[in-house]
Amino acid sequence: MGETRPLYIPVLLGTTRKGRSSLHVAQLMAHEVAKRAGVETEMIDIARLPLPTDDAGEAIKDAGYSERMNRADALVIVSPEYNHGYPGLLKHVLDSCLKEYVHKAVGLVGVSAGPFGGTRGIQGLLPVMRELGLVNIFWDVNFSSAHKAFDENGKLLDGAYLKRIDKFLAELIWMAKTLRYGRENIGLE
Ligand SMILES: Cc1cc2nc3c(=O)[nH]c(=O)nc-3n(C[C@H](O)[C@H](O)[C@H](O)COP(=O)(O)O)c2cc1C
Repeated sequence: MGETRPLYIPVLLGTTRKGRSSLHVAQLMAHEVAKRAGVETEMIDIARLPLPTDDAGEAIKDAGYSERMNRADALVIVSPEYNHGYPGLLKHVLDSCLKEYVHKAVGLVGVSAGPFGGTRGIQGLLPVMRELGLVNIFWDVNFSSAHKAFDENGKLLDGAYLKRIDKFLAELIWMAKTLRYGRENIGLE
């Protein structure tokens, strides 16, 4: 493709909860994305977005978040499982943009205290991704017993996750490059 402009793949931390284990997961994911050649990243913490709750959708669009979503070639979404679903505030943030997401890749990372690694939250997110125009890859990363996966400084205790993350990112980057090519070179008939 002869493409030299770096990909931009931010990591969205999808919970505002105090003491959230998902923070360690999002930091790890951003660290692993940053290691990839030709990719720029940052963690976007939804707790730091000034999104009001007295309205919804594009009416509460934050300029900084919108600009990042416009620039993004792909998204990594870190979503903890709350009562077998994804966090409501994550949905509230996602809903604040629309055209910014279209034909961009997305990879989902589930986090739970229980044994299923946030899979039930991820299943709920899939139709939302589709409606936003995001293109989901066929790999997820699932952190089960998340409170035991990191030490108190956020250091990963189980290296087996790194292999899975590697596979996930290889697929996400392939999809990000493919979709960027499509957005820039192939018109909708
Ligand atoms: C309101 C609420 C509901 C939860 N429901 C589930 C659940 O359905 N399944 C599960 O495995 N863990 C559940 N948990 C535990 C979280 O998955 C756990 O805190 C995990 O570390 C990820 O969330 P965190 O980033 O907020 O820490 C719940 C936590 C909260 C706060």
